[in-house]
Amino acid sequence: MTATPGRIPTLDDLGDVAGKRVLVRTDFNVPMETSATGERIITDDFRIRAALPTINWLTERGATVVTASHLGRPKGQSNPKYSMAPVRTRLAELAPGVELLENLRFDPGEEGNDPSFVARLTAGIDAFVDDAFGACHRAHASIVGPPQTLPSAMGLLLQKEVDVLLGLRNHPKHPFVAVLGGSKISDKLGVVEALLDVVDALVIGGAMCFTFLAAQGYPIGASLWEPDQVETCRRLLVVAAERGKTIHLPEDIVGLDADSNYATYGIRLPEGAKGFDIGPGSAAAFSDIIMEARTVFWNGPMGMFEDDRFAAGTLTVAQAMADTKAFTVVGGGDSAAALAQFRLDDEVDHVSTGGGASLELLELGDLPGLEALRKAPNAHG
Ligand code: 3PG
Repeated sequence: MTATPGRIPTLDDLGDVAGKRVLVRTDFNVPMETSATGERIITDDFRIRAALPTINWLTERGATVVTASHLGRPKGQSNPKYSMAPVRTRLAELAPGVELLENLRFDPGEEGNDPSFVARLTAGIDAFVDDAFGACHRAHASIVGPPQTLPSAMGLLLQKEVDVLLGLRNHPKHPFVAVLGGSKISDKLGVVEALLDVVDALVIGGAMCFTFLAAQGYPIGASLWEPDQVETCRRLLVVAAERGKTIHLPEDIVGLDADSNYATYGIRLPEGAKGFDIGPGSAAAFSDIIMEARTVFWNGPMGMFEDDRFAAGTLTVAQAMADTKAFTVVGGGDSAAALAQFRLDDEVDHVSTGGGASLELLELGDLPGLEALRKAPNAHG
């Protein structure tokens, strides 16, 4: 069976995989911490478990699976801190007999997309499967290289991520609300602009709200902001108004005053005050918006939720995501971690394994990894 041109080949398009050696690019870039004894410990194995359906699909059909992933950003050098060993141990528990190569980013050829590194990766391999949604926005060797020569396919996880996120982008049920937070606004302005085409309303919290509030002329005290993005925020507020879309910003803020005492403010922060969470009034308003929506995409916490004093805004939004009847999608490491911390991760419709990748797919509608699969030898019939 062959795929129609332009379509991304799926596992069925690989034909009979029995007896074949299949390279599966996974995103096993899992959060880790170092124990008191210096051991590296995986704190959340969500991304490893998410690759199991594809791995099992292949092994059940008689393939020998070789997995490969990056871990952290070791910058082209071998570094024990980023060794795949702890991941290999966990993978062996979940999928015995499946091989896992050493961290792809130990070799500069990975990020440099070096053809000789691709040749080494694909030597002795019969077919390639990309299941690394979280890395598909990177035009790295292991993502875009193997489909140039090998019969290739997207894995089941990648397929689901693409279906869900392109579904949001192309035919969401309205009202469609996007809730954005986190600290770095410069990373997200592209997606804010693209989302203004498809959403009915944008809700903005997290540290990124302060640049928007500054653009509206409100004093933001000593809160984190990006002065060089103020003009863009101002323009986005105008674009939103022109398109009849609402950008909801917090109307109260929780933080620390100039003497580091916990304080709740209205929309104006006094000199020296730092905002660390949306206030209770804003959290309730954001929750109402989520409850009334039919589709909600959430990326980025509303505040510094790792600190209990500043977790309430993110918890209220997470609870609304769990309670609403809307179709709910959560993208990004931090919002997924917040959901897990509040034990609400099973209460939303889809938790994406991709942070940057989910935003880029929503913004651009395509990713380098998907483009590469569309050009694979078996994708053209
Ligand atoms: C992620 O964690 O979002 C992916 O694994 C990509 O990692 P990167 O941002 O280091 O490329």
